[in-house]
Amino acid sequence: MPVITTIEDLRRIYKRRVPKMFYDYAESGSWTEQTFRANTSDFSDILLRQRIAVDMSNRTTASRMIGQDVSMPVALAPVGLTGMQHADGEIKAARAAEKFGVPFTLSTMSICSIEDVAEHTTKPFWFQVYTLKDDDFMQRLFDRAKAANCSAAVITVDLQVLGQRHKDLKNGLSAPPKLTPQSIANMMTKVHWGLGMLGTKRRFFGNIVGHAKGVSDPSSLSSWTAEAFDEALDWDRIRQFRKMWDGPLIIKGIIDARDAREALNVGADAIIVSNHGGRQLDGALSAIRALPEIMDAVGDKIEVHLDSGIRSGQDVLKAIAMGAKGTYIGRAFVYGLGAMGEAGVTKALEVIHKELDVSMAFCGHRDIADVTRDILMIPKNFSGDWQ
Ligand code: GLV
Repeated sequence: MPVITTIEDLRRIYKRRVPKMFYDYAESGSWTEQTFRANTSDFSDILLRQRIAVDMSNRTTASRMIGQDVSMPVALAPVGLTGMQHADGEIKAARAAEKFGVPFTLSTMSICSIEDVAEHTTKPFWFQVYTLKDDDFMQRLFDRAKAANCSAAVITVDLQVLGQRHKDLKNGLSAPPKLTPQSIANMMTKVHWGLGMLGTKRRFFGNIVGHAKGVSDPSSLSSWTAEAFDEALDWDRIRQFRKMWDGPLIIKGIIDARDAREALNVGADAIIVSNHGGRQLDGALSAIRALPEIMDAVGDKIEVHLDSGIRSGQDVLKAIAMGAKGTYIGRAFVYGLGAMGEAGVTKALEVIHKELDVSMAFCGHRDIADVTRDILMIPKNFSGDWQ
């Protein structure tokens, strides 16, 4: 086993070990993937200011997200089909997160169900829901999350329609995978993955199959989204969802300051600045470039989090220094999971934590809570001068 020191190391191993269909699902943006790429590359336009001869001993990255203690401000993002990246993937990732002391967010589009994850973990996790037409199903999802003791609900508000990811269409993405000569030939080369999948009964969308009505092909993400998602979504409807869930609420998928201001009226505990990892509107601004304007608009009124593009502890540090109270990793933990199961997710968290901790020290801080914008050198036109 090579020495793993970066998230990129995990991605390389992941690519070798997991069927192409699922690797491509994670490693895609929509259309030209311009926003997907910019989400990561835009971080490198921000520089860090090094300080010396300041006390760097006894450091801590511990902080709070929506009032809950976290060992670093990095949650695991909801990622669909995580249980196809590795057998029982959501359970594995949730256990790694729990041991590390960071939140795990289970996607509605997961393979392991809410109940499966609750049964195999000891601490509350977060649950993500989409904005669906079927009120009964929505209420049942919230009720199941409550019964499973979930400590926050995350509503994804940027998926009324699905952005086109070419590779998913070409690969015929489904869970479980449809057996075609191509998919069989590819899966035959992924022995570890295959043995794991044969050893688990969890190979379907566990929150949907047997729970949602009128789904013509419950193995297909694209047909389920086309049938069940509410294209007519508006803020009144989002406020209705707020009434269905009386626990902490996070609104995920805001990239425009006008929407951030609207979100204040919902009564949420936090918003996530996110372009869905570049998987929805290609050509949209990267999340990190969108953050300053959103901080200016609502940063003193609501907790602001960020996802889309985080691949290192330095990315986390930059987002926190710009005012975010929390960040999320999606692909970064999926690479670890596909590469090495639970140990790989732990590895991804360790890599990010170490980068965050040491970079914070170089910038002259011992406590993540004290980090402010003055550790950064941000180009004057970073957020753009648009018309
Ligand atoms: C679902 O939310 C996806 O991005 O595939």
